[in-house]
Amino acid sequence: MKSVFFVVAHLISQASTQATFPVNLNSTFATSGARNVRKDTGTYGPPVEEVHYFYDQWPIGLAVSKTGRIFTCYTRGTYAFTLGEVINETTEAAYPDQTSNTPPQGLSQVSNGITFGSNDENHFVSVQALYVTPDDTLWVLDTGRPTINESGRLSMPYAAPGGPKLVSIDLTTNSVGKTYTLPLTVHYPDSYMNDLRFDLRPNATESGGGIAYIVDSSNEGRTGFIMIDLATGESWRQLNQHPSTQAISEDVPSYQGLPFYLRQPGHPLGFQVEGLDGAELNQCGEAMYYSALTTDYLYSIETRYLRANPNSDALADKRASDNVKNLGQRGGNANGFSGDSLGNIYMLMPEYNAIYIYNYTTHLTTPYVRDPRIIWPDSANVGWDGYIYFTINQLPYQADWNNGVDGRQYPGLILRSKLPNGASKNTLLM
Ligand SMILES: *[C@@H]1O[C@H](CO)[C@@H](O)[C@H](O)[C@H]1NC(C)=O
Ligand SMILES: *[C@@H]1O[C@H](CO)[C@@H](O)[C@H](O)[C@H]1NC(C)=O
Ligand SMILES: *[C@@H]1O[C@H](CO)[C@@H](O)[C@H](O)[C@H]1NC(C)=O
Ligand SMILES: *[C@@H]1O[C@H](CO)[C@@H](O)[C@H](O)[C@H]1NC(C)=O
Ligand SMILES: *[C@@H]1O[C@H](CO)[C@@H](O)[C@H](O)[C@H]1NC(C)=O
Repeated sequence: MKSVFFVVAHLISQASTQATFPVNLNSTFATSGARNVRKDTGTYGPPVEEVHYFYDQWPIGLAVSKTGRIFTCYTRGTYAFTLGEVINETTEAAYPDQTSNTPPQGLSQVSNGITFGSNDENHFVSVQALYVTPDDTLWVLDTGRPTINESGRLSMPYAAPGGPKLVSIDLTTNSVGKTYTLPLTVHYPDSYMNDLRFDLRPNATESGGGIAYIVDSSNEGRTGFIMIDLATGESWRQLNQHPSTQAISEDVPSYQGLPFYLRQPGHPLGFQVEGLDGAELNQCGEAMYYSALTTDYLYSIETRYLRANPNSDALADKRASDNVKNLGQRGGNANGFSGDSLGNIYMLMPEYNAIYIYNYTTHLTTPYVRDPRIIWPDSANVGWDGYIYFTINQLPYQADWNNGVDGRQYPGLILRSKLPNGASKNTLLM
């Protein structure tokens, strides 16, 4: 790992205090002199360190284990593997092995003339997100929905039950523990499981085995939360298409100062649309903070409303909807969230090349870190070592959003920054 961060702002401001005569007529373009002009340095916060470089596959999610192992995932596509482990500064390897990453029947299947994602429960199809719980278990969230290329047109087929799944992996033996699949009443064909959080405390559920909270960001619009009781395997939904889980329509964010419209080959001009995406629990697991990607609004709900199972409680849906809190605007669109041992809620801010913190004590968003290398921060994870790790994948430059022209430039990155005030991984929820 190397740290390559230099702050030049102080040097510039010191130089500018020393006005000189006669006035240099072209000093507007100089960095010193009487007409020195203030400029945005593009940086603040703790140093940003480069941890890993991706040269073969663009990353989506990541997770860091108790011993510092780094796992990454990649949505497919044509990539050789969808779950990987970082083995050195520039290379990742299929995890736990290539076989687990290779559904024998392929990534998709055709049924009655319609293409669906693979229904393979035993192999990874397209992994979107990862999480390591305080007991050092790796959890793998497979959407079962790869991107496929049908005669030159890219599309994401509907999911077939079995493909979308949550899988636990024991990091001491590197073997698969449990696999949870979801019925069609919980995971719809157009669902897209985007991120996941856990509360493993025995009192989180009646069955005592802990609970998984999963966000469904469904671009097709059927957004919401999916919960899985980890002891019984039972699953249910909450906040279905609730306005707090939906993208704002016709949103025009800016990335690197460029207004962004979605330009997909063969489609009219579109807009960035992604529903419920970022989600994080508070320190004690009693509240969930969340938002769609393309919105400036942040929301929260007490987790007891998400844990209430509508299959056994007819009013559970209504109570959840009635108890959503709109926390107001947070200063921009946000991608993935993360949390720490002090209760800070980190929000990745792709429009500002930054990570912001929502402080639920003061109800305010505060700056944490900003850096020109943060070109679409996608996913973040706090390690036991007191750093927040995050992936950079330049997504707004991908071909499918730019008339088929891929403007991304390798390498993709894992970056990290030291957490404030000695914070580290929140290990209370087990
Ligand atoms: C300012 O203009 C002078 C004369 O054209 C030129 O020699 C000098 O390099 C310029 N300085 C800067 C900082 O552009
Ligand atoms: C990383 O590992 C790969 C595969 O083993 C190897 O080819 C490469 O040289 C290694 N790179 C470094 C910097 O160690
Ligand atoms: C999709 O397939 C076509 C051939 O049918 C090929 O020309 C094109 O490069 C492929 N596109 C991608 C993004 O793989
Ligand atoms: C669960 O137990 C923890 C202590 O381990 C306690 O702080 C918390 O309030 C309990 N939660 C519920 C819902 O009873
Ligand atoms: C929020 O701000 C308060 C007041 O400045 C501070 O004491 C606290 O540590 C901050 N973080 C959280 C998670 O409340």
